[in-house]
Amino acid sequence: MRKGLILAGGLGTRFYPSTLGVSKHLFPIFDKPMIYYPLSTLMLAGIREIGIICDSKNVEIYKRLLGNGQSFGISIQYLLQKYPYGIPEALIIGRSFLEEKPCALILGDNIFYGSGFINLLENASKKLESCSIFLYKVLNSSNFGIVEVNSSNKIVSMKEKPSKLSGNLAITGLYFFDKDAPFLCENLKLSSRGELEIIDLLKKYNNKNLMNHTLLGRGFIWFDAGTPNSLIKASNLIESLQTRQGCIVGSPEEVALNKGWIPKSLFEKNIQKFKNSIYGKYLSNLLNEN
Ligand code: DAU
Repeated sequence: MRKGLILAGGLGTRFYPSTLGVSKHLFPIFDKPMIYYPLSTLMLAGIREIGIICDSKNVEIYKRLLGNGQSFGISIQYLLQKYPYGIPEALIIGRSFLEEKPCALILGDNIFYGSGFINLLENASKKLESCSIFLYKVLNSSNFGIVEVNSSNKIVSMKEKPSKLSGNLAITGLYFFDKDAPFLCENLKLSSRGELEIIDLLKKYNNKNLMNHTLLGRGFIWFDAGTPNSLIKASNLIESLQTRQGCIVGSPEEVALNKGWIPKSLFEKNIQKFKNSIYGKYLSNLLNEN
C-alpha cells in the first residue's frame, strides 16, 4: 500500500514575523488550517498511512490538532526534521517509515481542487514503478520548478525557479514516487542555496524515462499558499467556492466519512467540538444529508 508524506517543516521566512511563533501550515485558509488541504488530498488518493515532517517546535501543536489520525480513519506519524535541508530530505527522514513502499509526497502549503481530481490521483497511485507529477500553467515562472516539454509531450528540461523565462509549466507540490525514491536521494548534493533540490530527484526519473506528467487544465485550482499574498487569495477562493457551491474543500473528516473509513457515530463525535464554527456547521449539514 502506498504511504504518504506531508512536508510541514521549513522556516516559513516569507511569513516572518508570524512564523516565528507557529508553523505556516497551521494558519487558516478560510475556515480550516492549511495542513487540512494536503492531508485531504493524500486521503482522496486512498492513502491511509501518513507521515508528517515537521520541526520539534511545532510537533506538539500538530499532535493536538491531528492526533494519531484515528478520528480520520487513518494513521499519522510525526517525523522530525532538525533543519530545513530541502524537500527530498523528507524521503530520507521518512525512509524507515516508508518501509520500501511507494509513496506520495505533498508540500504542506499546496492546495488542489478540481473536478476529476480523484481519478487523476487514483491513476497516479496505480503507477508503482515510476514517478508522477502534476503541472499547472503559471505566469510567474520564477517562483516555481518549471518544465519544458517538446512536441511529443516529453519533458526536455527542468529548472528550479529559473531567473529567465523558460516556459510556463510549473511543477506542483504533489509527487508520486516508486519505492526507490529514498535511495535515489542518498547521493543528491546540496545546491548553491544549501538545500537538496526536488528538481534534482525528478531529473533522475526523467533521465531514466520513468516520469509521468499530467497537466491540470482550465477550471482546475492549484495554490501554493506559501506567501501572505497567495494565502489570502487561496482563502478568498475557498470561501467563494464553499459559499457558492455549498461544498467543502479540504476536509479530512468529510473524506473519511465518504470513503467509509469512519462510522457515522465517530464523525458525529468528532464534529461536536466545532459545532459553532462555519466548518462545524457545514459538517453537521453533511450528516443530515447522509
Ligand atoms: O509549490 C510548488 C513548488 O514548491 C515547486 O514548484 C518547486 O519546485 C518546489 O521547490 C517548491 O518551491 P517552494 O519555494 O514553494 O518551496 P518551499 O521552500 O516553500 O517549501 C515547500 C513546502 O515544504 C513548505 O510547505 C515548507 C516545506 N518544507 C520545505 C523545506 C525546504 C519542509 O517541510 N522542509 C524543508 O526542508
